[in-house]
Amino acid sequence: MTSTDLEMTTTRRENLPAPAVRAVTGFSEKFAAAATHVAFAPGRVNLIGEHTDYNDGFVLPMAIDRWTAIALRLRADEQVVLHSLDVGKRGSFSLLELLPGKVDGWLSYAHGVAGALAETGVTLGGWEGVVASDVPMGAGLSSSAAFELAVARAFSAMGGFTWDGARMARVCQRAENHWAGVNCGIMDQLASACGVAGHALLMDCRSLEIRPAPLDARVKIVVLDTAKKRGLVDSAYNERRSQCAEAAKACGAEFLRDVTAANLEKHRATMDALSYRRAHHVISENARTEEAFAAMSRGDLLALGALMNQSHESLRHDFEVSCNELDVMVECARKERGCLGARMTGAGFGGCAVALVETDAVQTFTANVTRAYQAQTGLVPAAHICRAVAGADVTKLESNC
Ligand code: GLA
Repeated sequence: MTSTDLEMTTTRRENLPAPAVRAVTGFSEKFAAAATHVAFAPGRVNLIGEHTDYNDGFVLPMAIDRWTAIALRLRADEQVVLHSLDVGKRGSFSLLELLPGKVDGWLSYAHGVAGALAETGVTLGGWEGVVASDVPMGAGLSSSAAFELAVARAFSAMGGFTWDGARMARVCQRAENHWAGVNCGIMDQLASACGVAGHALLMDCRSLEIRPAPLDARVKIVVLDTAKKRGLVDSAYNERRSQCAEAAKACGAEFLRDVTAANLEKHRATMDALSYRRAHHVISENARTEEAFAAMSRGDLLALGALMNQSHESLRHDFEVSCNELDVMVECARKERGCLGARMTGAGFGGCAVALVETDAVQTFTANVTRAYQAQTGLVPAAHICRAVAGADVTKLESNC
């Protein structure tokens, strides 16, 4: 029996995600002591509603059964000390010297969350921890949001402030925007914070209102990783954001959320062709996302699949954020029996596609799609059949209760 077995009851250990168990074991090794808590937060996949969050629009992601976990205990000083088992590095920062840009690399996300939390006026205590994750990095499944939310959960357990998922998502988005320098919208952090087991979440990115839609047992959500690392994503992402803001302005609004399809047509003659296409994607995608939620709610899987297919075409032609690898993956997926719909997911330019696949066809589907994709591109892809899980959480470990 290892020290980890002694620290948790069997039930608790069974209920913990695999990376949480790995982090707890890693903590005993790195610190020669037992962790008191383990915080964990999931990655996400977006079913539909792409490049709509920063336009104040709608998204429909789900938190997935891949997590970043931190096993930790309180320190008596104002230091945060972290070992990352996956990066193979140790780092630390002082809570008395939080400054944007002061810390870089993987630790900058933890430092940013501390900084953004401190800006809200909460008192933070120092802690030490070990991080382990099974969210693939750089694949567009929000490994950074999962890390941020796990850090926020760790601070909430050590500092004793109450947890409010949507508020913490905002804090973590601020950490990413202002502290780590990545200009993302709210979707990733909100999905990781507020996931609901067995459900996708319709999120209104303006009000942060969330409406869960049940995932039908007749289908599985399959994430198809192209193994094409996302290139140029930051600059192209920022460019799309400003193009959307300009297009909204040309239609007399601050956000494309407030522009109707009719309104866009009215302004078409005065807009350049590129602005029109960008706006056309966002406005039609918002409508598709609300329709997809309605389709899920009434169990209309064919309609959901068709909307996912349309979303991909719009992202490919109007918004121009797909790439050859994503198009090949989507094409391979759509050819397979049992595939009701497939599209790129996340920011684009590489990363993952997502497919809606009939449950009884899913094993053959993943085997055939990965084989066909590899034959066409020479890249070795990965397929993850994902479950929808609950959002960020923290558990007190048994021996210290
Ligand atoms: C990235 C960002 C999100 C969102 C998607 C595109 O994942 O982090 O906020 O904008 O791209 O839908």
